[in-house]
Amino acid sequence: MKIGHVDIPGHFGLAPMAGVTDRAFRRICAEHGASYCVSEMVSAKALTYHDKKTAQLLDISDTLCPCAVQIFGSDPETVAEGLRIARELSGAPIIDINMGCPMPKITGNGEGSALLRDPARAEAVCRAAVRAADVPVTVKFRTGWDSDSVNCVEIAHRLEDAGASALCIHGRTRAQGYSGLANRDLMAQVVAAVSIPVMVNGDINTPDDGISLLRETGAEFAMIGRGALGSPWLFAGCEAAARGEDIPEPPELPDRLAVLLRQAELTSEEKSEYVALREMRKHAAWYLKGFRGAAACRNSCMKLTSLAGLRRWIEDTISQLS
Ligand SMILES: Cc1cc2nc3c(=O)[nH]c(=O)nc-3n(C[C@H](O)[C@H](O)[C@H](O)COP(=O)(O)O)c2cc1C
Repeated sequence: MKIGHVDIPGHFGLAPMAGVTDRAFRRICAEHGASYCVSEMVSAKALTYHDKKTAQLLDISDTLCPCAVQIFGSDPETVAEGLRIARELSGAPIIDINMGCPMPKITGNGEGSALLRDPARAEAVCRAAVRAADVPVTVKFRTGWDSDSVNCVEIAHRLEDAGASALCIHGRTRAQGYSGLANRDLMAQVVAAVSIPVMVNGDINTPDDGISLLRETGAEFAMIGRGALGSPWLFAGCEAAARGEDIPEPPELPDRLAVLLRQAELTSEEKSEYVALREMRKHAAWYLKGFRGAAACRNSCMKLTSLAGLRRWIEDTISQLS
């Protein structure tokens, strides 16, 4: 896939997930075959206030694959200003605009998926972003606000007209949140409706899901969100399936936990050991998903405060669960 002038070599990328897809996890996913990724979402308005915490989310160095920065906002001028700041701070080769977030604290301000209820504003936001950007602009959005107002094809046309270089469609309405199944028919309609690349997104948990989603929607590229949690090797599996090659087996427990440790080390370098260990609690639970008897190990992980403790916990967990 090509987004503007940026070449994206494979077929699967890491979808943005606030609180999860930080620099360390993006790097881990790229090491395991993700060929594109996106930062956690950041507020355009907060950027214009020069908020330090927001700016930290924009560090996309050492990612190994092209990485977009995602911003959200509902006022075209604020989005344009936020975009310029995001570009300056990150040097990102692509800027993505969030029009899919369903959280009430975002939609309550008319941001995220609330823009789908106001297609003219969605178009104006995209147009202002494209005008302000010296790199390609993409938009990630949902199929509509709710089942009575599915308008993804109209939105896709408007965003293309406004100059978006590519789109990413998550096949659910805002009302669905993350439940139910992503609608492949609607995603296929969006792919067919526009001539810019459309990335499809929703419910890839296995390599089979990945290739069937591409096949059924006619898309060239798909984004993986929750399926990659504790399972970054899903990208290599999906790429192998797309090439018609044998799908590598997921790693055994010791290799899985070695990846968790590497992620913790990277997080510790970027944030602090204390923060890394707190963040690893949820990741450890994901890396242990499906292992019988893992509940006690997950509980003991909650008490860890150092990388040395994590290393000992990994040894104990391997001996208890193997
Ligand atoms: C914890 C979490 C955080 C998310 N944060 C973002 C975000 O910051 N920006 C965004 O566009 N989508 C966000 N999403 C949506 C995902 O990018 C993706 O569209 C959704 O999870 C569906 O894909 P999946 O079925 O592969 O998980 C988030 C999803 C989750 C579960």
